[in-house]
Amino acid sequence: MKATVLAHPNIALVKYWGKRDDALILPHQSSLSLTLSPLSVTTTVEFGVPTDAVELNGHVAKGSERERVLRLLESVRAQAGDKSLGPAKVVSRGDFPMAAGLASSAAGFAALAVAGRAAAGLPRDTKAESILARLGSGSACRSVQGGFCEWQRGERPDGDDSFAVQRFDAAHWPELRMVVAILDRGEKDVKSRDGMKQAVETSPYYAAWVKDAEAEVPRAREHIARRDLQALGELCERNAWRMHSTSLAAEPPLCYLNAATVGLIHHLREHRKKGVPVWFTLDAGPNPVLLTDAANEVAAEALARACGALDVIRCVPGGDATLKSEHLF
Ligand code: PMV
Repeated sequence: MKATVLAHPNIALVKYWGKRDDALILPHQSSLSLTLSPLSVTTTVEFGVPTDAVELNGHVAKGSERERVLRLLESVRAQAGDKSLGPAKVVSRGDFPMAAGLASSAAGFAALAVAGRAAAGLPRDTKAESILARLGSGSACRSVQGGFCEWQRGERPDGDDSFAVQRFDAAHWPELRMVVAILDRGEKDVKSRDGMKQAVETSPYYAAWVKDAEAEVPRAREHIARRDLQALGELCERNAWRMHSTSLAAEPPLCYLNAATVGLIHHLREHRKKGVPVWFTLDAGPNPVLLTDAANEVAAEALARACGALDVIRCVPGGDATLKSEHLF
């Protein structure tokens, strides 16, 4: 009745930005990401306790945060076909800054989905886990498995064909590095789910974004298959720019970049002219993630620090969400 899972966040190389179904979290387009190690979230779920209780990073979860966790567990009960599992206790802890444009919710909901099913006595099933994780937070469906995962948008209105599949595992490209530059530790002003809704509803560029991003996914897959860092880096940057352009064109406009983000991007271009193979991507926050290789990660970290990074986290391709024998309570 109790299970604990460790999951890693992921960084989208081709971003997911916009839902066609808000309740089921079904995207307008497919996306592709890399799972990041050593960053992780660990979550313990236990069914059959006296009342529902949700603790996230040492705080009792309230409001929509608590509801999203409980809603996911309701789906676990439905999958188990067992309404008698009873109330659940959830304790979750991450080892990196939350809501700062890093996919902390991705790792959290992936860990919750895998732990929830295991605590309900269900066997491991990456498709079912990915669909469950998606109900918590879209990008979470890509953190159930490690390496490079592709979230296929799917066609069905019930979302049963909208889940992530692993294209290449972490061992496919061990020299790849993602260097997270923390320029700002604050919580972002506009959460991803609100930002993307604003873009879908008001940006005149939104339809173009969807068409372009969908077409980039197979290209990204090819670059990864060939371990072509330059081609992947260039694709990654243009996809990030296009996601942010869509949002800048929304009403009201949405700008996730701050002055330090822009400064770092200009600096990075200068470095590249001097032959350092480094590219960036940027989620819905001010903290860029630099894409490079093992031989250049020290240079990428130095670049981030020279541009005012408060903290730098060097990441390597991460593995699958895994069950742990040690519980958080
Ligand atoms: O899954 P959410 O609601 O956290 O949205 C994630 C959106 C981006 O991080 C900006 C892009 C992505 O694909 O992860």
